[in-house]
Amino acid sequence: MPERTTAASQERITLPAVCDAHLHLRDGAVLGFLARVSARTCAHAIVMPNLDPPLRTVAEALAYGARIRRALGPDPGFTPHLTLYAHPDLTRTEIAHAAAEEGISAVKLYPHGVTTQSSSGVRDPLALDDLYGALAEANLPLLVHGEIPDPTADPFDRERRFLDEILEPLLERHPRLRVTLEHITTREAVACVRRHAPQLAATLTPHHLLYDRRALFAGELRPHLYCRPLLQRDRDREALLAAATGGEEAFFLGTDSAPHERGRKECAAVCAGVFNAPVALETVTELFAEAGALAHLADFTSARACRRYGWPHPTRLLTLVRRPWRVPDELRGDDGGRYVPLRAGETLAWRVLPDGEGAPT
Ligand code: DOR
Ligand code: ZN
Repeated sequence: MPERTTAASQERITLPAVCDAHLHLRDGAVLGFLARVSARTCAHAIVMPNLDPPLRTVAEALAYGARIRRALGPDPGFTPHLTLYAHPDLTRTEIAHAAAEEGISAVKLYPHGVTTQSSSGVRDPLALDDLYGALAEANLPLLVHGEIPDPTADPFDRERRFLDEILEPLLERHPRLRVTLEHITTREAVACVRRHAPQLAATLTPHHLLYDRRALFAGELRPHLYCRPLLQRDRDREALLAAATGGEEAFFLGTDSAPHERGRKECAAVCAGVFNAPVALETVTELFAEAGALAHLADFTSARACRRYGWPHPTRLLTLVRRPWRVPDELRGDDGGRYVPLRAGETLAWRVLPDGEGAPT
């Protein structure tokens, strides 16, 4: 648990390893690199199924889990929790099978066409009542990407419209279905979660807590801050930060670290996704320290997700020290690819000590 001293005087924080409730590890040659980056600070992570092709069956998800474990080697101290990509042909039997598998934690709903790898997403999310009924019966949570799948919709309005036109009716029709609204971006989403908790919970990303949409257009266009759903107004960011730091059980960390190779971010058709895993915990710690909310940090980064998804609380402890360090301009994957982390080139205040260097003084 963080020591309860004032933010200004606190120089060292010890807290349990992170439970990242929303993470992209990709597949193939880059998988080992990305899994190691997250295993540095995470004990548990919910791993997204939007691979190419997406993970649609229990067998595909379990095979992916085996690839993650193989890429990490023995005793990584990191458990991937797998997800299935929602689709209209996902049967009740397959859902019951998924619920019985310890390695599978949820089904993820991607509305069609709203983000990376959503071309197989759901065109009419309200037409999946059988699926939601089966999930509620199996007590398997539904994770939702909350943007309306209407290609004519204003991209800055897509989350708000999703809340009104899809999520509210869905929750009403399926009161026993547990739902997590992923990577929320607006004050309306915060209010919606408060209204429907504990049926509804939400993940919050480091980048949506740190930036509003002005950062995307600061001087030049900043493709490395392009993600879906988009960064919103500062008043939205303030509402997200208040939700994160305010000690409420329904809000917890899901980094949505979503790397794309440098060439896919610096080009004419930029992929959505922010690679924040190398700085996620450091960034969140900085924000909580500034807000005077370090007493709630471990709940936000670890304990609430464990309670929500029924995972054992991590026994591994991390130590952060107030020691400036410079974030690299880019990192090299095992695939030879170049990956630009969030806050590249910036000097950060907090640093996670490598394992073994964190003994309390
Ligand atoms: O920005 C995003 N990137 N949002 C998503 O929902 C998907 C993710 C990705 O997979 O790159
Ligand atoms: Zn994501």
